Amino acid sequence: MDSEDRLLLRALRREPLARPPVWLMRQAGRYLPEYQEVRRQAGGFLELVKNPELSAEVTLQPIRRYGLDASIVFSDILVPLEAMGMELRFDERGPSFPTPLRTDDDVERLRPLDPAASLGYVGETLERVRAGLPDEVALIGFCGAPFTLASYAIEGGTGRSFLELRPFMYHRTAAFERLMDLLADAVGRHLVYQVEHGAEVVMLFDTWAGTLTPEDYRRFALPWARRALEHVGDRVPRLVFVHGGGHLLDEVAGLPAEGLALDHRIPIGAAFDRYGDRLALMGNLDPAALLSTREDVARRTRAILDAVHGRPGHVLNLGHGVLKTTDPANVAALVEAARA
Ligand code: CP3
Repeated sequence: MDSEDRLLLRALRREPLARPPVWLMRQAGRYLPEYQEVRRQAGGFLELVKNPELSAEVTLQPIRRYGLDASIVFSDILVPLEAMGMELRFDERGPSFPTPLRTDDDVERLRPLDPAASLGYVGETLERVRAGLPDEVALIGFCGAPFTLASYAIEGGTGRSFLELRPFMYHRTAAFERLMDLLADAVGRHLVYQVEHGAEVVMLFDTWAGTLTPEDYRRFALPWARRALEHVGDRVPRLVFVHGGGHLLDEVAGLPAEGLALDHRIPIGAAFDRYGDRLALMGNLDPAALLSTREDVARRTRAILDAVHGRPGHVLNLGHGVLKTTDPANVAALVEAARA
């Protein structure tokens, strides 16, 4: 099979299809017992990410279990910050950077990213995954968007009210812009590096940009997301996800990308009316719906398919990642409903 014929690639070119491709954000992860087993073997999450053999294995687990149409390389948006010189830890409470960026000098100490030198394990995982994937399954690479990475670097972890990030942005604007310049090139290079190692689609995750007003999004986030995506150019299709970004869709739709991922709060039919003539749209079942019954999962999946009504460019997915308490049988119900 020609890689161009893979269902996800065809959907991103907005070709008419008999059914939409289906894959899920965080399809590999803690809700799968086979993932828990390999993670234990690796000794921790970061150890797992840095072990290409085991990372490739957990990337392939949901493909074997469900026969999904796309695979996303098992890694994390935060590893480029570690590769730029920031100590990174993961524990039960999530990720943390014990020495966050607080001064202009801290920003100057970051190293520009050289993915081949410091993120070689991601390239190796991609190659192993491609070798183990069925021919018809597409392979996705990803990165965090510059704004979301800056929020982790300045907050030192997952922000609640962003009481460090916001003053940094407003009062140390020159240092913030310098940081965003560094991050935009790091993200761009990391995406290109992944394409060189087998990624056929790239996805940019802007998890925290949805906390901004449209004006601040245009001022503090959008130009650098654009710059990162421009590094990729027309090498492969680009997907952008701004979690909680319903109020930013017009801005996000203007980025150089072929597809937008919608969170569950956005009515997908209306998004197709507005953007469907020029963009592919991915989404957008509420991840919490997978905590309901199988019948309800199937019903809500059909509701999304009805709202899209067979328009080209649809990729069926969740509106955010699979939650850790999800019953694996409910994921199967989603996939079955998508195929029916
Ligand atoms: O299957 C996949 O989707 C691919 C792998 C993937 C992971 N993280 C693995 C992971 C992807 C695409 C990500 C992206 C990511 N990481 C984002 C953007 C998407 C989003 O969720 O908004 C963010 C913000 C992160 C940072 C991060 N990594 C957090 C906040 C956490 C802790 C919270 C949580 O869900 O546990 C992680 C850990 C993480 N990344 C896990 C996985 C499977 C859980 C780790 C574990 O304990 O095994």
